[in-house]
Amino acid sequence: MNIETNNHSNSDWLNLPSLNSAVKSLFTSYLLVIGLGVLLATAQILMTHGMADGKIGLSIDDIVYSYHGDPAHSKIEIKLNGSMRDKASVADKLEIIKWVRNGSPEEQWEPQIKEIFYTNCISCHSVIPGLPDFTEYQEVKRVAKSESGATAASLTRVSHIHIFAISFIFFFNGIIFSFSIGIKQWLKIFIISAPFFFLAIDVFSWWLTKISPEFAWLTIISGVGYSLCAAITWFVSLYQMWILPRNGQVYKINTWRS
Ligand code: HEC
Repeated sequence: MNIETNNHSNSDWLNLPSLNSAVKSLFTSYLLVIGLGVLLATAQILMTHGMADGKIGLSIDDIVYSYHGDPAHSKIEIKLNGSMRDKASVADKLEIIKWVRNGSPEEQWEPQIKEIFYTNCISCHSVIPGLPDFTEYQEVKRVAKSESGATAASLTRVSHIHIFAISFIFFFNGIIFSFSIGIKQWLKIFIISAPFFFLAIDVFSWWLTKISPEFAWLTIISGVGYSLCAAITWFVSLYQMWILPRNGQVYKINTWRS
């Protein structure tokens, strides 16, 4: 028996519409759960980095504050001009900001500054878990320090986790997408490999932004870049596995053969 011919004629089912249900269910379950993960990750980014400048939504400022920091402003001042804007009167906010810019001296904490926090803030900031407890001077002092951005230690940790974990996601996405049909080979190669390069640029851009705020746009471009590629692989793969075969046509293409 000629093995070469045998393999050749037998592998023309190697494409997304023609895979059997077991393999499709594996790919589909993976894609659905990864999709859920992406939604949660987006929510997390919006809640942490998205709020860094005190305003809802991700912007260049958020990225600059998160990685480069803003030595002129403390977290408390950014918040008092942002999401905590309506929590105190203008006069009270001014009083807090003046005190903070003065280096938040402990001598002035009791009684007058403490009083402002007790009136406006501690109904939440002493009872809601995870929020700094503003009945404590030390906790106020912590958010009153000027923002210095991400530390090299935290960036190193997040960088390597990010690169390892997300490479795996792209790898599996890429394998599934490599079985797709009707897509020009150069385009397929781009959609499969570009996310890895965007990922590297993304992580590199955090470090560059830490050094200089102008690089924040690189973070945005690379993030948009790999999100687009991932979205294409996700939709095309699910479409070709489940919608395409419904027209009754049999697809005889070995997508892995060069
Ligand atoms: C109604 C509840 C509520 C009140 C009142 C409130 N806060 Fe907040 N605060 C929150 C919540 C919820 C968050 C987390 C979400 C966010 O950062 O916007 C928060 C976050 C913060 C943060 C960021 C904490 C961190 O470590 O990230 C600061 C600083 C802050 N508040 C300051 C204040 C000050 C100052 C006041 C009083 C003038 C105040 N808040 C009043 C609910 C409240």
